[in-house]
Amino acid sequence: SKARIVLDPAFSVGTVDPRLFGSFVEHLGRCVYTGIYEPGHPTADGAGLRTDVLELVRELGVTAIRYPGGNFVSGFKWEDGVGPAEDRPRRLDLAWRSTETNRFGLSEFMDFLRKVEGTSPMLAVNLGTRGVQEALELQEYANHPSGTDLAERRIGHGDKDPFDVRLWCLGNEMDGPWQIGAKDADEYGRLAAQTARAMRMIDPDLELVACGSSSQSMPTFAAWEATVLQHTYDVVDYISMHAYYEELEGDRDSFLASAVDMESFIENVVATCDHVGAKLKSSKKINISFDEWNVWYLTKAQAAEPLNWEEAPRLLEDVYSVTDAVVFGSLLIALLRHADRVTVACLAQLVNVIAPIMTEPGGPAWRQTTFYPFAQASAHGRGRVLTVNVDSPTYPTAKYGEVPLLHATATIDDETGAVTVFAVNRSQTEALPLTVDLRGLNLIRVVEHSVLTDADPDARNTLEQPERVVPRAVEGTALGGSAADGVPGTTLNAVLPPLSWNMIRLA
Ligand code: AHR
Repeated sequence: SKARIVLDPAFSVGTVDPRLFGSFVEHLGRCVYTGIYEPGHPTADGAGLRTDVLELVRELGVTAIRYPGGNFVSGFKWEDGVGPAEDRPRRLDLAWRSTETNRFGLSEFMDFLRKVEGTSPMLAVNLGTRGVQEALELQEYANHPSGTDLAERRIGHGDKDPFDVRLWCLGNEMDGPWQIGAKDADEYGRLAAQTARAMRMIDPDLELVACGSSSQSMPTFAAWEATVLQHTYDVVDYISMHAYYEELEGDRDSFLASAVDMESFIENVVATCDHVGAKLKSSKKINISFDEWNVWYLTKAQAAEPLNWEEAPRLLEDVYSVTDAVVFGSLLIALLRHADRVTVACLAQLVNVIAPIMTEPGGPAWRQTTFYPFAQASAHGRGRVLTVNVDSPTYPTAKYGEVPLLHATATIDDETGAVTVFAVNRSQTEALPLTVDLRGLNLIRVVEHSVLTDADPDARNTLEQPERVVPRAVEGTALGGSAADGVPGTTLNAVLPPLSWNMIRLA
């Protein structure tokens, strides 16, 4: 049986905000230390940044980076990470039972961002153990040009120009009992509103993110968002969403349908935002910052031995299979399909910790399987997202009932007319023929059909075999109808291999 979609440039979801392709650097495990930063590494630059990693981050196409946490931020004193390195204190990091040397801090992070190029910062303030005053002080240190104690301190530390951070997270996962300083929705909502109001007194044009629920399965989900937004609606721009997916008890069919949950989660949060907006008689819309998403084998992490205050321990170093990459690609498709309201998103995380890039201390850096869908979507999933209604055969899942085998989205670059289709075939065994009706589109050729799949669904890239899994070109994907000698095609015909992520570019 076949799947079919219709593309018409007259019907679109919205325009992709480049920040949909953000990522996340937390002081956690080896994300920072021996990840992006390793003085003494053969590729390290004068500031200790690994240039092999910088190159891969550029290739990945990351547009915004959230920092410094995550759970870490809820116990973090930002002052510890600035000023002369020899004066920075070593501290206990309660979130990850590690020792934080603070050798890497705000200035080093901003240097990293500048060197990545084309990416903007998203800083989180600590609303776990700290509050309004410390958030204001960080903002002043980071953004005020000169002439105050904190601005002059930054200048004295060698950063003459302000960092000009526009996007700020008001805490992290404040609903989670694991979070240092976790709060109930009213407590957090009041604190977030006070912090936002005060930060806007310095700079009314900041973009601010209030914490939503840590996941859709939290017992307070939706009520939390409604209460927090009731307090903060006028002073924030975004509510955050976090979601991680893993294969549980060998139920691969449900795992492959994880995006069903992600899409319902987005739609439920949007509905909650709009409900509060309606109640407040506000014409303002709150958008989504999906600032943590990924495949994460969390149950494995929870079962691991507790850590013992090591520096940069090997933590959450999931090694992703082809199956994981297909699910991951499907999560990207879910984000793009909601690009009207999801305007910021961060793949959690960037290096070593549940990450698309892995490194060996003193050794090489390589791409995980998940690297490829992200890099392709960031490079080509820009412009307008077209409305895609999927007509597809379905398959049964234990968690989500009947689910379409095809998950797809498409983007159009209105300047060139080029179209990119992103598609996942969730079938573990059968190829899926796909027909795309091209209406009102001026497309004369298939530029490429790239696929990520493997005869072994558990194949992975490792230190020993860093290029075991790479995307490959598919032959035979063609425009049909009248397409010939410069006449636009009316259909596209492709075959999606079993368990595959596909990118088809048309021009
Ligand atoms: O990304 C790993 C952790 O997941 C983050 O620190 C936290 O915010 C979330 O629970």
